[in-house]
Amino acid sequence: MNKFIDISEENVLKTYNRMPVVFKNGKDVYLYDEDGKEYLDFLSGIGVIGLGYSNKKYVEEIKTQVENLLHTSNLFYTATVAEAAKKLTKISGMSKVFFTNSGAEAIEGALKVAKKYAYEKNGTDDYEIIAFNHSFHGRTIGSLSVTGNESYRKPFMPLLSGIKFAELNDIDSVKKLVTEKTIAMIVEPIQGEGGINVAEGKFLKELEEICKNKDILLILDEIQCGVGRTGSFYRYQKFDIKPDVVTTAKALGNGVPVGAFLLNEKAANSSLKPGDHGTTYGGNPLAGRAISTVLDIFEEENILENVKRITPYLEEKLENLVKEYEFIIERRGEGLIQGIKLTENKNAGEIMKKALENGLVITVSEGNVLRFLPPLIINENNIDEMISKLEKSF
Ligand SMILES: Cc1ncc(COP(=O)(O)O)c(C=O)c1O
Repeated sequence: MNKFIDISEENVLKTYNRMPVVFKNGKDVYLYDEDGKEYLDFLSGIGVIGLGYSNKKYVEEIKTQVENLLHTSNLFYTATVAEAAKKLTKISGMSKVFFTNSGAEAIEGALKVAKKYAYEKNGTDDYEIIAFNHSFHGRTIGSLSVTGNESYRKPFMPLLSGIKFAELNDIDSVKKLVTEKTIAMIVEPIQGEGGINVAEGKFLKELEEICKNKDILLILDEIQCGVGRTGSFYRYQKFDIKPDVVTTAKALGNGVPVGAFLLNEKAANSSLKPGDHGTTYGGNPLAGRAISTVLDIFEEENILENVKRITPYLEEKLENLVKEYEFIIERRGEGLIQGIKLTENKNAGEIMKKALENGLVITVSEGNVLRFLPPLIINENNIDEMISKLEKSF
């Protein structure tokens, strides 16, 4: 493994402090490194491998697509993209979709939708967007502009103008920021990178109400918490919220890099028109096949049912840790996006490293939080094994 680590360190731009392991293959909830060591994976590539590694149907479909057709460009139609679009608009309840290559690009598209919507309405380029402290929306200039973490934004100023930050679950902090110029609000229904901060259903409903009354576009970023992770396909569906724009990525492709922004009829009819937006790769035939297959497997393998069934078991085990260890302050999260917040004297990053040595893959979130994003197919035994490896790492 050291050989590959050395080559990477020598040649790849160092924007990550990578963990000292070289993974070679995966099966279901397990990863294997170049030396054959087994790791239980409660990270799933940061919430990407929802169906687990090497799902048989997924692998077959991707193989077939690679053999048939990888790419044609968006100048033409393909069956896989048509199917993916139909299934995704149906499951999300949204009207139209634009496919991207990543989450950040989905956010860029959503911001362009908001700007174009306001431009069509008022002909103005003087706008404000409300985002939230501790949010994370990506690393491109637009997505960074709405990311509520100053240390990420500061070296890249000036970013987009007109962005204001409110507090999650504090509706007054939002109301104070709304002006005549507000064109959109962007919020993660659960803040993943920012510490597993769950937006209350009531709060999201109140945002929806303000947006509806003032013709402000409500953009929900479901890139990390969506695609089944909380037991409904998208989290907003639990509260019967009707967003104007939804961003989605990660688990939607189960490993093939995909993303999308979805629009309701209002946003679709009055924003991006031919010539306003485009992408070479976004929604190519391979991406279409991946998305379409993921959606089929969700149905055939009752993925949402498993998330709902297994969640209370995981939550109970994590709550037991809170009771048992005085350095654990609380459990946070919903479904299979969970975190435990530690006291300052216990370093979450150190525990993450120890866990890796003990054959468990997890990560951290802002605020000394250990983060758990397992594949959506986990069972009770996987959870028992995770808890035992985690306790060993404490
Ligand atoms: C909520 C959220 N939005 C956007 C992004 C950016 O997605 P990507 O890394 O695919 O660009 C992430 C990535 O972690 C995310 O968690």
